[in-house]
Order: sequence, then C-alpha cells, then structure tokens
Amino acid sequence: MRKITIAIDGHSSTGKSTVAKQLADYLGYIFVDSGAMYRAVTLFALRKGIISESHFDKEKLIDSLAEIQLTFKKNKEEKAEMYLNDENVEKQIRTLEVSEFVSPIATVSEVRKKLVEQQQEMGKEGGIVMDGRDIGSVVFPNAELKIFMTASPQVRAERRYKELLERGDTISFEEVLENVTERDQIDSNRRDSPLKIAEGAIVIDNSETNQEDQFHMLLQLAKDRIAGR
Ligand code: DC
Repeated sequence: MRKITIAIDGHSSTGKSTVAKQLADYLGYIFVDSGAMYRAVTLFALRKGIISESHFDKEKLIDSLAEIQLTFKKNKEEKAEMYLNDENVEKQIRTLEVSEFVSPIATVSEVRKKLVEQQQEMGKEGGIVMDGRDIGSVVFPNAELKIFMTASPQVRAERRYKELLERGDTISFEEVLENVTERDQIDSNRRDSPLKIAEGAIVIDNSETNQEDQFHMLLQLAKDRIAGR
C-alpha cells in the first residue's frame, strides 16, 4: 500500500498531537510533534540565559544553533520522546515557562530553517504524520492530506488548564488563557512561516467534537488519500 504524508497544523491546544499520534499508530507511520522541537530549542535558550522576561539575545541563539542536537527516541511504551543533546527533556519542555517563551523563539528564521530541514529529512520516505504550524504550508507543501485544526480559545485553554493541573502545576485558568491567546497572536503574525491555513487543507473546528469521532473522521480521510481518492 502506498505511504502518504499527513500534515496536521492548527492552533495550540487543539489536540493536534494526540490525534496525529493515534493516526500514525493506526497506520504504522512515523509520528513527529514538531512543536516539541521548538520547545527543546526554547529550553536550551532558557538554560543558557539567551532569553528571559527582560531580554532576548537572538544573535547568541543563532550562534549556538550548531550546539543543539535534537532527536526523538521511543520509550518503553513506544512513545517518541524529545532529546536535547542526548538528555530526555520530554517533561521539561511541557512547562508553562517553556510555553511562554516558545513563540518568540519560533520567530527566528535561522531556527526555523534548521528544524524544517530536519523535519523534511525525517519525512523524505513518506509514511509520516507531522503536526505543527507550518507543516502543510512549508515543511511538506505536497502532503497528500493536510488538516488545519482549530477550536475556540476558551475551549483550548480549558483543555490545557486541565492537563497542567493533572501534572500538578499550580496555575490559574486566566494565566493559561492568556498564554493560549498570546501564542495565537505571535504564531499567526510572525513574518517567517506564519500559522495559516495551507492551500488544500481541510479545516476542522473541534470545539464540540469528541476525540474518538475526530479520529475516525481523519482516518477516513487518510484511507481515501491512500487509495488515491
Ligand atoms: O504545538 P506546540 O504548542 O507544542 O508548539 C509550541 C510552539 O512552537 C508554538 O507556539 C509555535 C511553535 N511552532 C512553530 O512555530 N512551528 C511548528 N511547526 C510547530 C510549533
């Protein structure tokens, strides 16, 4: 059976990664959460003091890019986890601190170029489901299936808030909502590869859809594309 490329883009906290992973597992495809790569670069920049509340040394970040090695390795449950220079950073990249700084980091063209090249290399054989912001528009413009996922900011913030509480973070709903809307704003308005609906993408608003229904809908679309429909 032919192996296709599936690009899933959209706003933060729309459940893109969850459904992308489900789809990849079902089809036996590679799954890549490209946001994890931008988050790992952000963690590096925070640790090196390159970015903070009061400053952002872009030049230093660009000069340090050669020192950043990103890899995905599977854990015992076969789930891909993010490694930054051989250190498992899967947990550290999901904190609100990283979420707060990741959008400015992702505006830097040199960062994007490095990550996009690596993403294209991972997908060069097809048989991949990648989620992010620019997958259908920049990374794989020829993907056979492109999806753009969205939901209301309120619904997305509620989902994210629940996730963070479950992990034991002490945080207010307002802070999460502010982070979600601020990231939308930066991601959609940056000069290089802004978040937008890629040509040919199918838009799904999942404010009211449950995950199971959404998975089946995407699976049907994927099966159609695999069959050349
Ligand atoms: O998918 P996520 O929320 O984990 O992504 C974190 C940030 O990374 C997001 O706010 C914007 C950036 N990003 C990007 O610019 N391009 C991608 N392909 C993926 C993520």
